[in-house]
Amino acid sequence: MAMRAHIQTAEMIIKILGSAAGGGFPQWNCNCRNCTAVRTGVPGFRARTQSSLAVSRDGVNWVLLNASPDLRQQINETPELHAKPEFGMRYSPIKAAVLTNGDVDHIIGLINLREAQPFSVYASDRVLATIKANSVFQVLAEQHVPRIEMKLNEPFALTGAGVDLGLTVEAFAVPGKVALYLEDTSSDNFGSKDGDTIGLKITDTVEKKSFFYIPGCAQVDEKLAARLKDAPVVFFDGTLFTDNEMLDQGLMPKTGARMGHISMSGEDGSIAAFSGLNVGRLVYVHINNSNPALDENSEARKTIEAAGCEVGYDGMEVRL
Ligand code: MLT
Ligand code: MN
Ligand code: ZN
Repeated sequence: MAMRAHIQTAEMIIKILGSAAGGGFPQWNCNCRNCTAVRTGVPGFRARTQSSLAVSRDGVNWVLLNASPDLRQQINETPELHAKPEFGMRYSPIKAAVLTNGDVDHIIGLINLREAQPFSVYASDRVLATIKANSVFQVLAEQHVPRIEMKLNEPFALTGAGVDLGLTVEAFAVPGKVALYLEDTSSDNFGSKDGDTIGLKITDTVEKKSFFYIPGCAQVDEKLAARLKDAPVVFFDGTLFTDNEMLDQGLMPKTGARMGHISMSGEDGSIAAFSGLNVGRLVYVHINNSNPALDENSEARKTIEAAGCEVGYDGMEVRL
């Protein structure tokens, strides 16, 4: 395979393509306070597509971190990801997609990338098995779109369509839960295993700088805290502000803990968990439409910002 590197910038470019959790914001069937506000244009609310990031080391070739059902819209709204005529009749800057779990909001966008365009899909054995079991993903023929298993805790170079992307990825298990449609209600933690929910450490192979991407996480345990200590940038699970907010709003009879998502607030929440970790920037992503912090004028938003954390938004760019 011919490897071409186009290292032009001195930094990684990270873009939030979608900052919302599954369902997006507003969610199609939801009349909660937030969804109603964003739908009717109340100031302080912005619409958000579903959960995905894109990262590039050279500004030319890009890696998707998760592929959301809104990917077509996200590509259209992101000039860096457009097809470019100077590269031929068929071309995409997207050279790889790395998946963190099998959730609908993280894998369905792969379907948008059909058309025999070469790129690589990276995922854990558990998530690859889910993709294999769903025959619709065969529209991504493996001769064009190889599926590459990420072994946990082993950094390796990301490549795709014959391009060395100048980045390494290390996948690691985080506390969490198997995708909703795969839950086995008769087993412990719904039959979840290591590899069902992973975090990613992405490292620039030249500059050796790293950031973390953890859009789904049930708990910041000691192991995860040690891993994240002193990280310059972490994009982290911002699904809910409080564990019971969906119940309290009459939306769904489930807590965040039941869904495998840590909350932002509270003693066991992520704001408290990160307070001693000396992380440079904590940027929340995968934000559910019930989260009061979606209102820029809310007390929840003030609490987050007072703690030095950030609420990610679609189109947000971080350079590292
Ligand atoms: C989640 O993050 O918990 C899932 O995306 C929920 C869902 O499948 O709707
Ligand atoms: Mn999700
Ligand atoms: Zn809603």
